[in-house]
Amino acid sequence: MTTPIYDFIKRKNAEQLHRFFMPGHKGKPLEEFFPLDAVFPWDITEITGADALYEAEGIIGESEQNAAKLFGARDTLYSAGGSTLCIQTMVGLLAKRGKKIIAGRNAHMAFIHTCTLLGIEPVWILPEQSDSYGICGLCTPQQIQRALEEHRDAAGVYITSPDYLGNTADVGKIAGICRKYGVPLLCDNAHGAYLKFGGTAHPMDLGVSACCDSAHKTLPVLTGGAYLHLGEGFPFSKEEAKEMMHYFGSSSPSYLILTSLDLCNRFLAEQGEAVFSSFRRRMERLQKEWKRREIPFLEGGDDFAKLTVDALAMGRTSTELQEHLKKYQIECEYVNSQYAVLMCSPFHAEEELELLTEALSVFERHNGTRQEEVSRFSYELPPRKLLPSEVFWKDAKTLSLEEAVGRISAQTVASCPPGVPVVIQGEIITPLIKKICENSGIFYLKVI
Ligand SMILES: Cc1ncc(COP(=O)(O)O)c(C=O)c1O
Repeated sequence: MTTPIYDFIKRKNAEQLHRFFMPGHKGKPLEEFFPLDAVFPWDITEITGADALYEAEGIIGESEQNAAKLFGARDTLYSAGGSTLCIQTMVGLLAKRGKKIIAGRNAHMAFIHTCTLLGIEPVWILPEQSDSYGICGLCTPQQIQRALEEHRDAAGVYITSPDYLGNTADVGKIAGICRKYGVPLLCDNAHGAYLKFGGTAHPMDLGVSACCDSAHKTLPVLTGGAYLHLGEGFPFSKEEAKEMMHYFGSSSPSYLILTSLDLCNRFLAEQGEAVFSSFRRRMERLQKEWKRREIPFLEGGDDFAKLTVDALAMGRTSTELQEHLKKYQIECEYVNSQYAVLMCSPFHAEEELELLTEALSVFERHNGTRQEEVSRFSYELPPRKLLPSEVFWKDAKTLSLEEAVGRISAQTVASCPPGVPVVIQGEIITPLIKKICENSGIFYLKVI
């Protein structure tokens, strides 16, 4: 597979150009920047021949077509602003069809912020399976169907799968339902770019209209590198999507990120299937070993790269587990009150996975779960008084949690990660929200 972006910069570097263009470093690292020596020459801007991200007709366009071929998309757009920029773009396009969007409440902040900026009215679906926070979980096809029946004027549906804990929704069934109702289905697949390879199904294979993949989360791509895939049925052209992306993205996209996306195409074309199939087998073996050793973890989703360890089932808290793993120089991706999330990749050495298994095996367990350490509650959506966009411009004041109960929230509260909102601007702060905030160490809230 061709690597037009990489080839272009390599050629230019060979010409030993005198750079009278941005960036300011002119391709020459200062001595103080020595750890980054190698990257400076590759950091260029949209000079002649280097194409332009939002009007990609040259090397970027060719590289994007390579990615589209790999992922089976009608079109693929590169983002140097993560899935966040892709979400802004696809939701921005959908909003042209109408301002009401049916969405799983397990949506990332990027979705909420886009709704706020564009005056979108999200119709929330509360995921059925919930963790102890009650906000991770998945929307079922039945929930989506009910919402579409009730909201015939919805412009489309927005789901998140996989979620931060590695759960995956029945995306194929949901896509079928959306087709029946004639509405586009957008999928936040930030955590699932790699699902295209290794024998699992990627949302594009399952019939979504468009999806975002944070390539940087699970593929060998620099942070910020993401794909926006558009499917055959997506009612907007690539040009319209580029135009929308331009509203949100920087006019100086990082060529380091774009080059890493470009090189990733070749890696995936030549080795993706073999590397991720073998990785999948490794993870299956590992999971078998964990079961043998009775290490409790979440099972069942397609997102086999995530290992979500249930600390409570070991009679401990996830913070204790996190501290224990640190003694082995193991750093988790994320912990909440119950789980520790570990993100694995084919690029982990076998010894690293073995060390993890060993560390978990010797983690001292206590009898029974430490319920007293964790407040379990079933989450309920707080009533909405105003749309997020209606609150955005209003004057707000900060109150203690005690005083804030019963008032309209002027802020969206979400721990990051996973970036899933507990309360959104415009919703009433209920006693339950107060309790969740207290548990998360938040004692003041902005209200109107
Ligand atoms: C589910 C989900 N969607 C979207 C995002 C945003 O992705 P990015 O960091 O690539 O902008 C994240 C980030 O963690 C996420 O977890």
